[in-house]
Amino acid sequence: MTSTTPVDPKDLRSALGSFTTGVTVVTTRNDGQDAGVTVNSFNSVSLDPPMVLWSLAKSAGSFPTYHSAEHFAVHILAADQEPLSQRFATKGIDKFAEVDFHRGVGEVPILDGCSAVFHCKTVYRYEGGDHEIYVGQVEKLEHFDRKPLVFHGGKYALAVPKKKPDPLADDARTRGFSANSLTYLMGLVYFQLMQRATAQLADRGITEAEMAALNILAIDDGRTAEEIDAMVRISGYRIDNDVLQHMADKKLLALAESADGVRAKLLDAGRELQLEQVAFIQALEDDALPEGAYAETVLAKELLKTTARKLLKS
Ligand SMILES: Cc1cc2nc3c(=O)[nH]c(=O)nc-3n(C[C@H](O)[C@H](O)[C@H](O)COP(=O)(O)O)c2cc1C
Repeated sequence: MTSTTPVDPKDLRSALGSFTTGVTVVTTRNDGQDAGVTVNSFNSVSLDPPMVLWSLAKSAGSFPTYHSAEHFAVHILAADQEPLSQRFATKGIDKFAEVDFHRGVGEVPILDGCSAVFHCKTVYRYEGGDHEIYVGQVEKLEHFDRKPLVFHGGKYALAVPKKKPDPLADDARTRGFSANSLTYLMGLVYFQLMQRATAQLADRGITEAEMAALNILAIDDGRTAEEIDAMVRISGYRIDNDVLQHMADKKLLALAESADGVRAKLLDAGRELQLEQVAFIQALEDDALPEGAYAETVLAKELLKTTARKLLKS
């Protein structure tokens, strides 16, 4: 069939991209040959009997394998399976090399780590222009509690549910701030975590400013008080020679005269303390985050990084 409508394929692809989908890998085995393709044309068809569909480009290298296959399996990819999606969307490679799988209904390869797997028997095949449409009856399904990978506008994305209003909105401590204020929420989380972290520092006789200086020296040793001060100032701490002298008294660092001022070098005790504190804060953060919030955590970090870059530039 030839196209009779003046629809530009590029426009069509771009407009279809505004329809957000999950990402699946459809696998099959036919005549002793395994095949797997990344697919987002997957959809549900019928609940009773349970049926699903997807379509495959006739130009796909694996088209002959699917065309007469009796079974296929649809894998709904999890948020961390972007590499798997890319692998099964790449032509001309051994797609199953270095991929963990076992055999399912009809000896079809079943990939590990997905959100859901539908083991299907091919019940209908339809012509679909440059694609062929496959309808499968679901013979077995597996469902795991994993966040899905999302595809939108030609890019991979993560799904974040819109939250309902929560008790935080009525918290008296919002003190006039809206509980939807990012600044308030960041402050709340930051101070709650830092209260715990500084309590542990205080037990060891270390101030927050001293800790900030240790963090700088751990990355870039041998700096002057002035240089360290310039770098920690964005966090609100101030460092001068007196602070460094206190730290030297505690054997956290050694001070040495140089042409442009006194330079601080970390001693073993300072280095160890810094590493322990980083691990302690990481553990606090891990404990504080809700379980299974992988997608939300990645998104929150990206948002904060972008905001931080913007603020540092202005
Ligand atoms: C997110 C995503 C969704 C895709 N969806 C489909 C699809 O629904 N149908 C299709 O034929 N190809 C789709 N592709 C392209 C195929 O995965 C790709 O062309 C694959 O390499 C074809 O298989 P082959 O290696 O057997 O040629 C998609 C690719 C990506 C990255």
